[in-house]
Amino acid sequence: MSNNVVVVGAQWGDEGKGRIIDLLTPSVDAVVRYQGGANAGHTVVIGDTKTILHLVPSGVLHSGCLCMIGNGVVLDPDVLIDEIEGLHSQGYLKDPRMLAISRNAHLVMPYHRQIDKLREEKLGSARIGTTGRGIGPTYEDKAARQGIRFGDMLDEAVFKRRLEQVLPEKNRLIEILGGHPVDMNALMAEADGWRKRLSHHAADTSLLLDKYISSGNKVLFEGAQGTVLDIDHGTYPFVTSSNTIAGSACCGSGVGPTVIDDVLGIVKAYTTRVGEGPFPTEEKGRIGEELQLKGKEFGATTGRKRRCGWFDSVILKYAKRVNGLTMLAVTKLDVLTGIDPLRICVGYELDGVRIDHLPSSGDDLKRCEPVYEDMPGWREDISSVRKFEALPKTTQNYVNRIREIAGIPVSIISVGYERSAHIMLKNPFS
Ligand code: GDP
Ligand code: IMO
Ligand code: MG
Repeated sequence: MSNNVVVVGAQWGDEGKGRIIDLLTPSVDAVVRYQGGANAGHTVVIGDTKTILHLVPSGVLHSGCLCMIGNGVVLDPDVLIDEIEGLHSQGYLKDPRMLAISRNAHLVMPYHRQIDKLREEKLGSARIGTTGRGIGPTYEDKAARQGIRFGDMLDEAVFKRRLEQVLPEKNRLIEILGGHPVDMNALMAEADGWRKRLSHHAADTSLLLDKYISSGNKVLFEGAQGTVLDIDHGTYPFVTSSNTIAGSACCGSGVGPTVIDDVLGIVKAYTTRVGEGPFPTEEKGRIGEELQLKGKEFGATTGRKRRCGWFDSVILKYAKRVNGLTMLAVTKLDVLTGIDPLRICVGYELDGVRIDHLPSSGDDLKRCEPVYEDMPGWREDISSVRKFEALPKTTQNYVNRIREIAGIPVSIISVGYERSAHIMLKNPFS
């Protein structure tokens, strides 16, 4: 039994983290987001209602769960206010004390969003394909010690002083990139609104977490994006600007690594990627289209079509290594129904040489050809199956093959997007 579990995406994001976190929330006392920002789009479907969370932790649809936004998150106040309002209108987050935001989280400012978009335009065909949410420029400023933190914004005088220090340089950059400079007074006025709407959520989340954990409460750490989008360990430069791997849960929330009991990796039963960059198992033809259509693979944040392809065990083994995965959740298994045979990539060929690890160079990865193993598919509708033994034998074999490749247990399988459409093999918290 675990008390504190990190949940991470084991691929290029959109593995179904949100829906798995929603499933596990009744077993925990708090859910903490620790990195990324509103580039994330975590979907939870209950009955006919779909909720997409960008900043608020995916535990929010269960009353009684304390939701925390840690210091490692980059916080766009406009997106957050919209999200909180949306949740209120659905009857969630009635008690404002159930959302605690770190005073040390850096703010995504309107100039960050503008710089992100202008840079992408300038890059043309060399673009990263960012979400345009200002993520890179905000993390840049954090590292350059030019950032403005949530706590700075709450004090009008401090906010003004920080803006006076950083805005002239930002505006010069915006002009060079061909954009519109941001007006200091307009930004000050906007911040008045942010302060009114958000100040009561401000907290020392590291201290709060310590109190929670030391009194035996259970905590789930919610990762955003996925392993191969990590700034250090991903397919650089086609990555996001934060560390997305499990180790980031500690830096981004202010706990030590010894409190983490388990790391749950979420993998889709196939692979998707949104944005540019190498993707060895991508299927540009009929299979890719079928996965895209059946899996409704559109970005939850930008609405872009996700690129689709076969399951890649090289990526899974890499994710196990860099995250220290101890268990898996396999999602979207139902999407593979009717596809026969199914292919699993078991290695790459790089310049004629067989390799079974992810090359550290993006150029090498671009030249990698997948080596496949074929497995028989299934035709039965599995979306109402709730026990592993009731799955068709070929479906069981496919999941068992993933488990065997990873060398760790599969704890959860999802067979549909609705909350109840899953098979719980072993709840990590019980
Ligand atoms: P996240 O960013 O990792 O939380 O994933 P997203 O929410 O961006 O993308 C996952 C998408 O797949 C969402 O639209 C989910 O509703 C959907 N989904 C999750 N699990 C399943 C499943 O088992 N089957 C199907 N068909 N859809 C699923
Ligand atoms: P969730 O948490 C999938 C991708 C973008 C782009 C790259 C950099 O929902 O899994 P950024 O805006 O972060 O600077 O864009 O990262 N990306 C994601 N892809 N899921 C996400 O989040 C993503 N967040 C960023 O498409 O390729
Ligand atoms: Mg997503």
